[in-house]
Amino acid sequence: MRRFNPTTLQKYIDTKDRITPLFFTGRREELTIAYTAFGNLKEGQTKGNTVVFQGAPGAGKTALLEHIKDMLAHECDSAKIEASLIGQPHEALFEVLKQIEPDTAETLRKSHQITKHGDVHLGVGSGGVSSSSTSTPKDITTLYRLMDERKSNKPLVLFLDEAQNANGDLPDGKSSILQQLHEGDVGKVTLIAGGLSDTSTNLNRLGISRLSFGNITTLQPLHETEVMTSVEAFVNNEDFCIDQNGCDVAPLKQLVINESMGWPQHLTNTLQAIGEELIVAGGQLAECDINAIQQRSQVRREDYYMRRAEAIPKLLLYEVVSTIPKGQSVKEYAVHEAVERAYKNYPLINQKLPYEKAFYMLVHRGVLQEDTTGNLTIPIPSMHDYIKYQSSLAIEGSGWGSINRHTSRPMTARLP
Ligand SMILES: Nc1ncnc2c1ncn2[C@@H]1O[C@H](COP(=O)(O)OP(=O)(O)O)[C@@H](O)[C@H]1O
Ligand SMILES: [Mg+2]
Repeated sequence: MRRFNPTTLQKYIDTKDRITPLFFTGRREELTIAYTAFGNLKEGQTKGNTVVFQGAPGAGKTALLEHIKDMLAHECDSAKIEASLIGQPHEALFEVLKQIEPDTAETLRKSHQITKHGDVHLGVGSGGVSSSSTSTPKDITTLYRLMDERKSNKPLVLFLDEAQNANGDLPDGKSSILQQLHEGDVGKVTLIAGGLSDTSTNLNRLGISRLSFGNITTLQPLHETEVMTSVEAFVNNEDFCIDQNGCDVAPLKQLVINESMGWPQHLTNTLQAIGEELIVAGGQLAECDINAIQQRSQVRREDYYMRRAEAIPKLLLYEVVSTIPKGQSVKEYAVHEAVERAYKNYPLINQKLPYEKAFYMLVHRGVLQEDTTGNLTIPIPSMHDYIKYQSSLAIEGSGWGSINRHTSRPMTARLP
């Protein structure tokens, strides 16, 4: 009898999903890319390296960054930097120093607190670096030197999550931490960034030339075999599974493959749906109702889509979803045309979402993601269905269905 422990299952469900995944799977290419960037730097490359992983919310960026951090833990010093500090290299480096060598950072802070001529203004506020900090070249040089004099001589790897928030609007004369890493004298640093689909555009605007050399990867759905590995790890996990004998788990694997479509967020959703149903069945896998798991998984999936789409006018979503065939991608200009069409046909939507923000929101809410060729797609087939169905209801309800439309198509979408 394959039997599970309801208490540990409940814990897993309650931890929500923003954690290093217990059942991390796949991403071998991405791990290799990160490791190669790091390796090149170790072996003599003198300037910094940047690697960017892009994808819609739920594509697995944070989990991947955490995994890379674990993978490199023995070989490097690592620190996280915030996108909000990207235009303040001095402060960003100081924050890094605080994480890897708090004592050195504290000494530095104290010594500069008493510097009369203020060659480094780190600020002395209780929250660390104050907003009055400056970033003159002299400051940077001082910090570079301190970074060089770190007690540890391990290479440094910086992690920048939510990197889409690092935009190019820097004050005149200021350079970003990323430029400093690439072109300055900060030493050997690998920067590993995760962000939404417009991250590379933003980073390019910061003038990072080396980004164009294939260091940008868009996270694609996981392969079926990878999903299966994750399910195996779940059903054989010693904390969860009290008795691992009996009960064929093949149908469960197939269920997770079908429900998740390889999308990491839905993989977690479906594993948690299995957990919930196992609890109902007193931990007995044989007693679990596959249909009930499917329903629970669908509720979670739709909840995720609803959260993605709620801030965007449905009439805009309809125009966009009608432009991108399910499972395919289109050039960016085609999406811009669809957006323009929507605002022209339904001027009132401007009140809910100003036209200038429309494209940004479609990307930032994860409705759109780049594919491997740089074209735009709705990243998950069931998300395409959901948006098409929900937005078509708005078309019917709005009275716009039959007039003033040149893109209307038959409503064939059903929820998966
Ligand atoms: N490679 C993976 N294998 C298994 N689960 C994953 C993987 N990547 C992400 N997940 C899970 O998917 C969910 C969303 O991942 P997350 O990293 O938070 O996405 P993002 O940062 O892109 O929004 C989380 O529950 C995470 O644990
Ligand atoms: Mg994330």
